[in-house]
Amino acid sequence: MQPTLLFSQLFFDPHKIINKYEMETHKQLTIGLFGFGVVGEGLYRVLQQTPSLKATIRKVCIKNPGKTRNAPASLFTTDRDDILTDESINVVVEVIDDANAAFEIVSIALRNGKAVVSASKKMIAEHLPEILALQQETNLPFLCEAAACASIPVIRNLEEYYDNDLLHSIKAIVNGSTNFILTKMFEDKLDFQEALLLAQQLGFAESNPKLDIEGYDAVNKWTILLNHAYGIVEHPNNLLFNGIQNIQLSDAVVAKEKNLDIKLIAQAQKLKNGKVAAFVLPQFVKLNEPLSFVKNEYNGVVIESGFADKQFFYGKGAGSFPTASAVLSDIGALRYDYRYEYKKLYHQQPNELTHDYYLKVYVSFDDWKYIPREKFEWIEEWHAEAERKYLIGVLHVKHLKENNWWRENGSSLILANEPIIDNLDIVNLKKRSLELAGIA
Ligand SMILES: NC(=O)c1ccc[n+]([C@@H]2O[C@H](COP(=O)([O-])OP(=O)(O)OC[C@H]3O[C@@H](n4cnc5c(N)ncnc54)[C@H](OP(=O)(O)O)[C@@H]3O)[C@@H](O)[C@H]2O)c1
Repeated sequence: MQPTLLFSQLFFDPHKIINKYEMETHKQLTIGLFGFGVVGEGLYRVLQQTPSLKATIRKVCIKNPGKTRNAPASLFTTDRDDILTDESINVVVEVIDDANAAFEIVSIALRNGKAVVSASKKMIAEHLPEILALQQETNLPFLCEAAACASIPVIRNLEEYYDNDLLHSIKAIVNGSTNFILTKMFEDKLDFQEALLLAQQLGFAESNPKLDIEGYDAVNKWTILLNHAYGIVEHPNNLLFNGIQNIQLSDAVVAKEKNLDIKLIAQAQKLKNGKVAAFVLPQFVKLNEPLSFVKNEYNGVVIESGFADKQFFYGKGAGSFPTASAVLSDIGALRYDYRYEYKKLYHQQPNELTHDYYLKVYVSFDDWKYIPREKFEWIEEWHAEAERKYLIGVLHVKHLKENNWWRENGSSLILANEPIIDNLDIVNLKKRSLELAGIA
């Protein structure tokens, strides 16, 4: 009789698997680093304290050779080819502040056979389709955890843990500078300009703070996260977004009266028709909600999924070591050849972004002449007596996308708590009842 071979003997050679595992986990990573600013220098220091990673920096490419650096001069170059054409370098870490140059560097690095780790959210958000194509073309990893919420590991969780069908919504504070300013307006009663100045003095806001304050940084991060959460590939300009530049101290007073907080919230939610609503706008948040606990320069993410209900991630969303820690984790993941599978984009039916739903909004303003009242589906509250007036009403998102009155002439738009209305029956019913009451 023939000896019976066990299934495991046929297909499973533990010796081989251990060898392969050893080979991969001990892969020597030789890094070419682009950028030696807040993040780049942070990474250099953090790597010195993690010798177990077996990762060494071979060269650092910077822009200005004249700057004093806290590292050996022999490490630095201004010639990007010293890294991009060096065959001994198998990993490029790109942490520069020039999005156009960053895209060129990342493209060449991948085409030259190097794995890439990047923190450049603007570059990634603006070139998402090309970056996805490059990964497919080269079959090389491109990891960018630091580009979303710096130290909070949200991209890998969205990639690996949350299945498309189960992910109901994500709501997040993704910009530390604006959160710092809002915290100071609320807690220390500073007005916007004073709070901004303080943020700049403490290094939480850039010298040109427009990118943070007007919502550009947050919408770039949201573009990246929408891709990993829902398989959506959109240019940031296609999302509805605004920053906190128009928020007034009087808005904070109204929020306090209603036991609410104001936060710059990035939100994505699956609607009843299966499409995804996504935007970045100031929003009233209840004081007992997790995001209300996110103060100062911190970030927070609340994920709501099918059976787990709500989960809350919290951590530093900027800064040298917190950001470098995410870059370091990506470098570590390269040892076992980790790459994003983009399951929601390639292996499932990707979700579609929609602007066909309604938002409940609060708008404060100086003069009624700036407010197109007829564009509201209904207005359910208004206060017109004080110098600074406000109303609460419902607008279609396409109207907000296509018009700018709500960002102009000092008007300040803040979303209501639970702002999304995607049930047309409710909208029609509400309009009809207001008509019957002679209000609308
Ligand atoms: N800072 C944070 O907390 C944080 C958090 C998450 C993501 N990020 C992202 O990480 C990236 C870097 O941010 P950072 O705060 O570290 O910026 P940074 O402090 O301003 O440093 C930028 C670095 O890039 C170098 N650089 C600029 N253009 C270059 C080019 N064409 N070639 C080579 N080097 C070039 C600069 O060189 P020189 O030193 O010679 O001027 C500098 O070392 C940005 O995309 C940012 O959005 C930052």
